[in-house]
Amino acid sequence: MSADIGVTGLAVMGANLARNLARNGYTVSLHNRSVERTDALLEAHGSEGEFVRTESLVQLVESLERPRRVLIMVKAGAPVDAVIDDLLPLLDEGDIVIDAGNSFFEETRRREERLREKGLHFVGVGVSGGEEGALNGPSIMPGGSEESYRTLGPMLEKIAADYHGEPCCTWVGTDGAGHYVKMVHNGIEYADMQVIGEAHDLMRSLAGLEPAAQGEVFREWNTTDLASYLIEITAEVLEHEDERTGRPLVDVIVDSAGQKGTGRWTAISALEVGSPVTAIAESVFARSISSQRELRAETNRVFSDGVDSTAADEEFGPEFVEDVRKALYASKLVAYAQGMDMLVAAGEEFGWDLDLKEIASLWRAGCIIRADLLDTIMKAFDGESSRLPKNLLLAEEFTEALNECLPAWRRVVAAAAEHGVPAPVFSSSLAYYDSLRRDRLPAALTQGLRDYFGAHTYQRTDVEGTFHTLWSGDRGEVEA
Ligand SMILES: NC(=O)c1ccc[n+]([C@@H]2O[C@H](COP(=O)([O-])OP(=O)(O)OC[C@H]3O[C@@H](n4cnc5c(N)ncnc54)[C@H](OP(=O)(O)O)[C@@H]3O)[C@@H](O)[C@H]2O)c1
Repeated sequence: MSADIGVTGLAVMGANLARNLARNGYTVSLHNRSVERTDALLEAHGSEGEFVRTESLVQLVESLERPRRVLIMVKAGAPVDAVIDDLLPLLDEGDIVIDAGNSFFEETRRREERLREKGLHFVGVGVSGGEEGALNGPSIMPGGSEESYRTLGPMLEKIAADYHGEPCCTWVGTDGAGHYVKMVHNGIEYADMQVIGEAHDLMRSLAGLEPAAQGEVFREWNTTDLASYLIEITAEVLEHEDERTGRPLVDVIVDSAGQKGTGRWTAISALEVGSPVTAIAESVFARSISSQRELRAETNRVFSDGVDSTAADEEFGPEFVEDVRKALYASKLVAYAQGMDMLVAAGEEFGWDLDLKEIASLWRAGCIIRADLLDTIMKAFDGESSRLPKNLLLAEEFTEALNECLPAWRRVVAAAAEHGVPAPVFSSSLAYYDSLRRDRLPAALTQGLRDYFGAHTYQRTDVEGTFHTLWSGDRGEVEA
C-alpha cells in the first residue's frame, strides 16, 4: 500500500497528529526510533484509520506515494538534524520533509536552505494546541516554499482546528516563517497568562477575593470582550479544590514558573529585530523572578511582603474589580499589538510578506491564545496594506475601547504601586501606550548625554544634518 504521509517520532504529539491524519481519511505510515512506540500506538488506536507499520526509515520512505511527505515529530534540536541526516540519502527531488515540532526558527531557516540545495522541500510548521489539539484539530502555521504548500496544504487544512467552517491553517511565508509565527504566538501566550495572574493577585491582595469567588468573576468576564480560552480555564483552575488539603489548588502549587522555551526566544528575537515587545519581555522576566525562590525568601525576610491582604475596604469593592477587568483587557490588547508589530519587523528582516489578518485567523481556534478578540483583530487588518493601521492600538476598532479603559488602567497600576502588589505587565503595557502617544520622549536627553561622553552626535528638530557639541571645548556646535 502506498501511504499519503509518513510520521516519524510517535511520542504524544506525533502519535496524536498521526491519528488525526488517519481519522481524516489519510493512509499514514508510522515510524519511531524504538519500535515499541509504533506497536503501542497500533495496538491502542490501530482501528481508527489506515496505518502502515514500519521498523526503519528505509521502510517508511519506501511505503510513501510521490512526492513523499515525511513529517518529523521528534524532540526539538539535535534529534531533528539526526533524523534529517538519515532521511536525506533516501529521498528524491521534490519530496517534502516537514518539521512540526517546536524548532527555533533560525534552525528551520538553516535546514530549509540545506534541503533546498538538494532539491527537497523543507517545511517548518508551527503547531499549537498541545496533545488535545494535535488529536482533534490544532492551529497550524506552516512555512516553507509556497509550492510545497500546494501538495501539503490540503492535508494540513483538513486536520487543523475548524473555526465556523474555516480551517485554522494557511501558508504564512517562506523558510522559518511558520515557526516564527508560532514563537510569537507563544510570546503573546506568556503575556496573556501573566496579565491574568496580575489580575488574580490584585483581586486577592487588595479586594480580598478568594480563588473560588474569583472563579465566578472570571466566568463572568468570559462573557465580555475578554472571552477567550485562557480566561475560561482560569475560572476552572481557581475554583478547583485540592484533594489532599481541601484548600484552593492554586494555593498549594509552588509559585515558580520556568521560561526556557519560546517566550524567551520571542524576547530575544524582538531585541534583534528592534521591536519593543515590553509586555512579552516583562512576562518572561516575571517568570524569571518567580524562579528566584531563595532570593525572594530572603528579600521577604528583610523587607516583609508589605501587602496587607486583610485591608479590603470600599476602595477595592466591585468597582475596583471592574477596573481590573478593563486594565486586563487593555494590557492584553497591548500584548497582541506588540506581537503583531514584531511580526512586521521580522517580516522586513527575513523577507516574509506576513499577512496579519491571516495570522490572526489562524489563532481563532485550536491554540492556547484563541480569543473573541481575534475576530476584531482580523477586521482591523483587513484591507489594502497601505491603509492598514501602523499598530493595532491605532485601529479604529480598538481606539474607543482603549479610551474607555484608560482611567481604570491608570487607577489599577497606581493602586498596585501604592500597595506594593507587583503588576509588571499592567504597568509596562501602560508605559508602552503612554510612550507611543507622547509628543516628546526623554530620548532627547539620552542623545545629549551620549554626545557628551562619547561624541555620538545628535540630530536637531529644526535643521537637517548631524551635530556635535564641543563639550570639553568652547561648547559651540559643529556639524558632524
Ligand atoms: N507535548 C506538547 O504538548 C507539545 C506541544 C506542541 C509542540 N510540541 C513539540 O512537538 C515535538 C514532539 O513533542 P513530544 O512531546 O511528542 O515528544 P518529545 O518528548 O519532545 O520527543 C520524543 C520523541 O523524539 C524521539 N527522539 C528523540 N531523540 C531522537 C533521535 N536522536 N532520533 C530519533 N528520534 C528521537 C523519541 O523517540 P524514542 O521513542 O525512540 O525515544 C520520541 O519519539 C517537540 O518539538 C515538542 O517541543 C510538543
